[in-house]
Amino acid sequence: MRQKFLQPRYGIDAPGVVRGALLSGIAAILAGALVPPFRIVNIDIRFVGPLLIAVGIACLTLFTSMMAYALFGKFRVRDRLLGAVSWRGDEQVLDVGTGRGLLLVGAAKRLTTGHVVGIDIWQTRDLSGNGLAAVTANVAREGVADRVALRTEDARSMSFADASFDVVLSLLCLHNIEDVAERERACGEIARVLKPGGTVVLGDYATLGKQAAALREAGLHVGEQRSLVRVALGPMWMVTANK
Ligand SMILES: C[S@@+](CC[C@H](N)C(=O)[O-])C[C@H]1O[C@@H](n2cnc3c(N)ncnc32)[C@H](O)[C@@H]1O
Repeated sequence: MRQKFLQPRYGIDAPGVVRGALLSGIAAILAGALVPPFRIVNIDIRFVGPLLIAVGIACLTLFTSMMAYALFGKFRVRDRLLGAVSWRGDEQVLDVGTGRGLLLVGAAKRLTTGHVVGIDIWQTRDLSGNGLAAVTANVAREGVADRVALRTEDARSMSFADASFDVVLSLLCLHNIEDVAERERACGEIARVLKPGGTVVLGDYATLGKQAAALREAGLHVGEQRSLVRVALGPMWMVTANK
């Protein structure tokens, strides 16, 4: 029991959306099952019940997909993203929007003399239990504290000098910056802090195409966008870029 309690936990992404999808799904199916056919000006209305049930099933499908990602998919996505880098072990690595340290810890385990910095603004609406305390605990449990540093820092205005990192990683962070110009600014920052010859690996939802375009605009050589749908068990893509 104690052993289970000490397992690293990487949280549920967008917990409000997950909760909302579950509650709306149950409510819509119950309402759909209970609402009887009715008449309006001599017309039989029979579609409301089935329509509510269809909406309920769609909500529960979203809930299932997001929970499947949180429980299984995110570990497979982590391995796929980190597998896109040819690790030497001495890299300086940045994880943008590290959350509870999913990529940060995974990258640290691939390093020997290198270091990884995780930055975040720790928004709890983006990840359940998000915060410095949670990631610090995961880093300690995984035994990588000697290779890891954490900073409260915004992706849009990083304090690092130009060309500081060999590898920059980011998973499901940048779509949370809703303003397109601000998101492009964050992509510009990622390009700025990357060393010449360095690699960027991004994983995200549908906004990834625009992120890739912003990296290209910032002078990086951007590879093809690849689907992660089968590994993530949800609609997600990845892209790599080099300076
Ligand atoms: C869905 S979570 C993903 C966390 C982690 N990358 C993972 O895959 O488990 C998104 C993270 O991005 C962070 N974030 C959102 N906007 C940010 C910004 N402007 N700068 C830095 N971090 C940000 C959130 O606080 C949150 O930790």
